[in-house]
Amino acid sequence: MEKRIAVVSGGIGGLGSEICLALARAGRRVIALDLGAREQRIAEFAQLTQGHDIRFEAADVGDFDDCGAAVERIAGRDGGIDILVNAAGITRDGSLRKMDKRAWDEVLNVNLDGVFNLCRHTVDAMAGRGFGRIVNISSVNGQTGQFGQTNYCAAKAGMHGFTMALAREVARKGVTVNSVSPGYCETAMVAAVPEEIRSKIVESVPVGRLGKPSEIARTVEFLTADDAGFITGANIPVNGGLFMSF
Ligand code: CAA
Repeated sequence: MEKRIAVVSGGIGGLGSEICLALARAGRRVIALDLGAREQRIAEFAQLTQGHDIRFEAADVGDFDDCGAAVERIAGRDGGIDILVNAAGITRDGSLRKMDKRAWDEVLNVNLDGVFNLCRHTVDAMAGRGFGRIVNISSVNGQTGQFGQTNYCAAKAGMHGFTMALAREVARKGVTVNSVSPGYCETAMVAAVPEEIRSKIVESVPVGRLGKPSEIARTVEFLTADDAGFITGANIPVNGGLFMSF
């Protein structure tokens, strides 16, 4: 059987690059989609992923037409997309009373519009071929709320509604749609949280440490497996016990 084609948005980021590696190790051909302007990071990513079936493709997930063009290029070069992982995400933290419209728009554009843009351009072809796996990387903060993150929490909670609605639309077509909600992990995004706030958060995690990006990637690999077809519309928390629910 031909290799399944996996696209990971935010593919050169902290979680994204580990997800790319995990999917490649699981036998997928992986395309890391990310902003083309991040030259230094793209070079580091190329080194990190050397020897794996992973390549880079430039696109701005917040731009609908740019996403469409990238999906077409991938279809021409690699084949139809079987697996889509929406891992592109940014923060613009600040309490609401200080948040300007730009910080709101940028986070909603990348974190939520980005999911629509890529899903809209890929899901019909998945349904047509009778197989697809979509995983949206949300956040524990989309479940609990977080001081200083009205924009981010709105986008991340919104992803769950999107996930469940789309899961219903394509359930009969062999396409599953799920979300994963990471807790605080060892990424640059979390490292940017002021030290005294971050250490308090880590203290409150039952497991007592930050998560490893590979622990998120492991969950994505599981959800995108060929034999994971009965899991859809679900949210899998991977947060060290920071938020427990049933
Ligand atoms: N809970 C309650 N009160 C808080 C608070 C909190 N968590 N944090 C700050 N405050 C209080 C302060 O004590 C201060 O009180 P006073 O006015 O009485 O002195 C007041 O709120 C400060 O409010 P400001 O509007 O001035 O906020 P700020 O500019 O000082 O700081 C912030 C706001 C930059 C958002 C800062 O709180 C912060 O960085 N918080 C961490 C946010 C965070 O966890 N982000 C996660 C990023 S990683 C990620 O998102 C990945 C993932 O998915 C998990």
